[in-house]
Amino acid sequence: MQIKKTTPLGAEVSDIDLSNVLTESDHNLIKEAFLDNLVLIFKNQKLTPQNLLMAASVWGSPQQHPVFKGLEEHPEIIKIENFGAKYHTNAHWHSDVTFEKEPPDATILYAIDVPSVGGNTLFANQYLAYDSLEDQLKEKLENLVAVNTNKSVIFLAGADPSLQKSVNHPVFRTHPETGKKALFVTQAFVERIEGLTDKESGEILIKLYSQASHERFRYEHKWHNGDMVVWDNRCVQHFAVHDHGDKTRTLHRITVSGSKPY
Ligand SMILES: [Fe+2]
Repeated sequence: MQIKKTTPLGAEVSDIDLSNVLTESDHNLIKEAFLDNLVLIFKNQKLTPQNLLMAASVWGSPQQHPVFKGLEEHPEIIKIENFGAKYHTNAHWHSDVTFEKEPPDATILYAIDVPSVGGNTLFANQYLAYDSLEDQLKEKLENLVAVNTNKSVIFLAGADPSLQKSVNHPVFRTHPETGKKALFVTQAFVERIEGLTDKESGEILIKLYSQASHERFRYEHKWHNGDMVVWDNRCVQHFAVHDHGDKTRTLHRITVSGSKPY
């Protein structure tokens, strides 16, 4: 197994077949590389839904999505398809499912049939986004929480509006495994910062969103069929670019269990 890092986040892991059961040493190396690099890329994989579930379990227990329905036989796997630019549900900066009390630690995407051009996914390092904020703003927001809501997902899924809910999470999250702090507000799901006026909350959020998605913190992934990519939702935000019109873009997606952010 080889690990080739990219900056400012991401690493390609090669010479490994994820359809096999991993040895303990490979398992540990992968977990370590994950915490160091935040996004891992495994190319040229051939994974059945069962293989994908087994591979995903390296990062936690696969979960069912609270809103989107999974595959009939494997409800933990969501099929991501291109429904055209009108339903570009993932073309916004976010960390997955932060409107839950315990958002997933990691997300795994596996490319089944992706366009030769377009449909890239952008990833941004939220440790760096936090580290390079001004000290004054860090101090001001240190113990504040933001309201995360599922409104946009309910709307896009055409789900029952009575399922709308919100939960408070810290503006800065401490990663439970690395102990490092990361920016944890997302343009997709955060409504406001508690304890500030609407005006101030709005102004600060605009600044934080621009910080979270800044180009100097990004890795852009160009998909090929057979790519499996996993990222750490505790310290990464992502954005699925919709620039491929109606071209087929099909991936399988799994999220794994997480814990309450602090
Ligand atoms: Fe996502």
